[in-house]
Amino acid sequence: MKTLHIRNVSKSYGAVKAVDNLSLDLREGELLAILGSSGSGKSTLLSCIAGIEKPEEGEITLNGRCLFSSERNIQVSPEHRKIGFVFQNYALWPHMTVFENVEYPLKMAKIASRERKEIVQNNLNLVELYAKGDRYPHELSGGEQQRVALSRALVMEPDLLLLDEPLSNLDARLRETMQLEIRKIQQKLNLSVIHVTHDQAEAIAMGDRIAVMHQGEVIQRGTPQEIYENPKTRFVANFVGTNTIMTGTLTHGETHIRITGAKCLTFPINLYTTKVRENQPLLVAVRPENVILYAIDKGPVRDLPIAVVNNKVYKGAHILYEIICEQVVIRVQSHPTEQFTVGDTVHFHCTRVSFIPTRGYTSPSHWIRMA
Ligand SMILES: Nc1ncnc2c1ncn2[C@@H]1O[C@H](COP(=O)(O)OP(=O)(O)OP(=O)(O)O)[C@@H](O)[C@H]1O
Ligand SMILES: [Mg+2]
Repeated sequence: MKTLHIRNVSKSYGAVKAVDNLSLDLREGELLAILGSSGSGKSTLLSCIAGIEKPEEGEITLNGRCLFSSERNIQVSPEHRKIGFVFQNYALWPHMTVFENVEYPLKMAKIASRERKEIVQNNLNLVELYAKGDRYPHELSGGEQQRVALSRALVMEPDLLLLDEPLSNLDARLRETMQLEIRKIQQKLNLSVIHVTHDQAEAIAMGDRIAVMHQGEVIQRGTPQEIYENPKTRFVANFVGTNTIMTGTLTHGETHIRITGAKCLTFPINLYTTKVRENQPLLVAVRPENVILYAIDKGPVRDLPIAVVNNKVYKGAHILYEIICEQVVIRVQSHPTEQFTVGDTVHFHCTRVSFIPTRGYTSPSHWIRMA
């Protein structure tokens, strides 16, 4: 079974702990998206896996072979790790043609000329660039350069492919096309890939699983759906998609969380599955798409809380509202068929919320439905 295991890896630059006691596993043929803000340690982690940087602590194994161990003093050099790396800026050699760029690693590995030509040809076909083998990097579009870099990383048939924000220089449309291209190639070759990005939509669209990094640590891992629907911390709730985050408390003898600053806003909580302590703050997150607005004279308005429309932005496919319920501001994403005006009083209904444990809670965050 081809797998990558990272155990308790730490890498510091002076006082900065870029990677902090991090453990992570990658399954064979899996695309793991590492999502994190700037400076969270994503590139440092990739450099440690590739052998460009040497961690101070920990162990890294790939397919049962130890690549790094602080305890056993092992540090395999990058060229012997069978790992392909696509850098954010592509790092193509400007004085070499597309063909020569892709051929270079094979030359270094002393593969015979005829065999090299065939391998390069196949690889350029894979990324649909064979017709452009004679061009120089400056004669290519950003997306084409990106595909050359991908091809060069794949040419040695790596056991693992590392992609460091390879799409961040591309415009939005090309980025989406390349997301699909990379996914197609990865699935065709059954490649194990770590794809680093700070774009949550990209991580959700591409990852079989996502690991969210913050300050050198992985703070949550799971499928895109788990990460999106069940954020375990305030940071993840804020970083992945949009959430309105409110503070609530459970009052003595009640089965509902009451939101601070909006007395009329309460959410039922399952006391059997979520250990909530009375009078302790708890974060309640609601996504804009999980709030429904009703005109005051329409819909199942009985018992629904009331708010005033404070802001409205037309987004084409949907309308983004900001509503105020007592002192709490809530974002709402609504279909353009029913429109409200700033100043309107509306009823609203949160169809789904997540509870995020704060300090003092040991239970996992817990989803409830209130249909
Ligand atoms: N060579 C270096 N020397 C000193 N500090 C470094 C070095 N490389 C990274 N750092 C620091 O380590 C931390 C993590 O950096 P890293 O480049 O891994 O972040 P990142 O998540 O890749 O960020 P970005 O999204 O901006 O690329 C940062 O605080 C950074 O300033
Ligand atoms: Mg980086």
